[in-house]
Parts: sequence; C-alpha cells; structure tokens
Amino acid sequence: MTALKNTAQRYGSVAIALHWLMAVLLIGLIALGLYMSGLPDVGFDKKKIELVLLHKEYGILALGLAVVRLAWRLGNVLPALAEQFPDWQKVAARFVHLCFYALMFALPVTGWLMSSAAAIPVYAFGVRLPDLIAQNDYRFQVLLEIHKWLGYALIGFIAIHAGAALRHHFLSGDNTLTKMLPGTGSQG
Ligand code: HEM
Ligand code: HEM
Repeated sequence: MTALKNTAQRYGSVAIALHWLMAVLLIGLIALGLYMSGLPDVGFDKKKIELVLLHKEYGILALGLAVVRLAWRLGNVLPALAEQFPDWQKVAARFVHLCFYALMFALPVTGWLMSSAAAIPVYAFGVRLPDLIAQNDYRFQVLLEIHKWLGYALIGFIAIHAGAALRHHFLSGDNTLTKMLPGTGSQG
C-alpha cells in the first residue's frame, strides 16, 4: 500500500490524490472558462451567468487546494527524478512544476481580483468572499487579459508535462508515471 507521505523514491497517497484531483479540476476549469467566455453576454444570458458562478466557485476551491498542496509539498521530501533523465530535462521538469505552482495561485487570484474590479462579489459554497480591490473598468479589462493568458500558459504547460510523462512511461519505460500512481513502481 502507498504510504501517506512521499519517500525519496515515490509520491505518497496524499500528494497523488491532490495531483490527480487538481489535474481534473484545473482541466475542467479551463474547458469551462473557454466555453463560457465564448457565449454572448448580451441580454444577461442566464446560462452564461450560471456557468461563470460555477467557474468562480470551483476556481476558489482550486485556490484552497493549492494552499494545502503547497504546504504538503514543503513538508515532504521530493522524490528523485528518474536516473535516465539528462540534466536539461531535470531542469525543465522542475521548472514546469514550479510554473504550475505559480499558476495554481495566479489564476484564481487574478479571477478574484477581476471580479472585484467588476464589482461582482465572489461566493464560494455559500460564503461571500471580501472584495480585493475597488471597482474599476480599466483594471477589470487588464485582469481579464492576464487571466486569459495565464490560462493559455497553463494549457501549454499541461501539454508539455503530460506528453513528457507519457513519453517516459511508454518509450523510456522508467518509473516517472508509476511513482505518481497509487500502489506501483517504487524503483527507478
Ligand atoms: C485555477 C483556477 C482557474 C482557471 C484554470 C481558470 C481559467 C479560465 C479560462 C481559461 C478562462 C477563459 C478566458 C478567455 O478565453 O477569455 C477563464 C475566464 C474567466 N474566469 Fe477563470 N479560471 C480560474 C479561476 C477563476 C476564479 C477563482 C475566478 C473568480 C473568482 C475566475 C473568473 C473568471 C471570469 C469572470 C472569466 C471570464 C468570463 C467572461 O468571459 O465573461 N476564474 N478562466
Ligand atoms: C493530465 C495529465 C497529467 C499527467 C499524465 C501528469 C503526470 C505527472 C507525473 C508522472 C508526475 C511525477 C513527475 C516526477 O516527479 O518524476 C507529475 C508531477 C507533477 N505534476 Fe502532473 N500530470 C498531469 C497533469 C498535471 C496538471 C494539470 C498539473 C497542474 C497543476 C500538474 C502538476 C504537477 C506538479 C506540480 C508535479 C510535481 C509534484 C507535485 O508537486 O505535486 N500535473 N505529474
């Protein structure tokens, strides 16, 4: 059985659960974000409003999970990358992981700031969250652009990261993927 905490060889069950739960959540938020922003907002389309509210609620959930995940990562050892990785790939892999942490905070925070700038309160599971900044149309537009481009950056990093993980698993046959799956592959 997989231990709760990470070891030098593999991720523990808490890190694995957080990784896959957040992978599904973030990919879902990207898909929802792209879909809803393409809907027309003339005439207060009810469907669009409902989807934006859902996006915000789950976006705040992602922020909460990112805090837990960062705390867990800082309190755990980091499993080594597969021996066969050339140095440039080790640097690239760690760099992508670092960018993921930055994006896991920057995306929800810009979303929240943007809602405050639009003077639309953010609710998360029945709780009204405070406004972070005062209403300002120009800031809203800038934050919307930033949020959008951070979303595109996340899509790019996911493609590189998932592609590399699958390549290591199927072509190199190392333990890169199995150490992020429950129950298997502890040696590299
Ligand atoms: C990790 C979490 C999040 C991800 C990955 C994400 C991703 C996205 C993406 C990809 C878009 C589409 C951008 C476009 O093509 O124009 C979008 C739009 C948007 N997001 Fe997020 N988002 C997140 C969190 C949040 C949060 C927490 C809020 C607010 C509290 C928020 C509010 C919005 C709003 C208001 C829009 C624009 C809707 C419109 O076009 O009118 N997002 N998001
Ligand atoms: C959807 C397909 C995905 C696959 C196949 C995948 C696979 C993996 C694998 C195999 C590792 C272990 C790498 C190693 O240490 O050698 C890993 C780590 C990691 N992945 Fe993913 N991943 C996916 C999606 C995501 C997404 C959407 C994120 C966005 C946050 C993400 C963030 C991370 C981070 C930050 C790590 C480093 C360990 C940690 O701090 O949790 N992954 N991933």
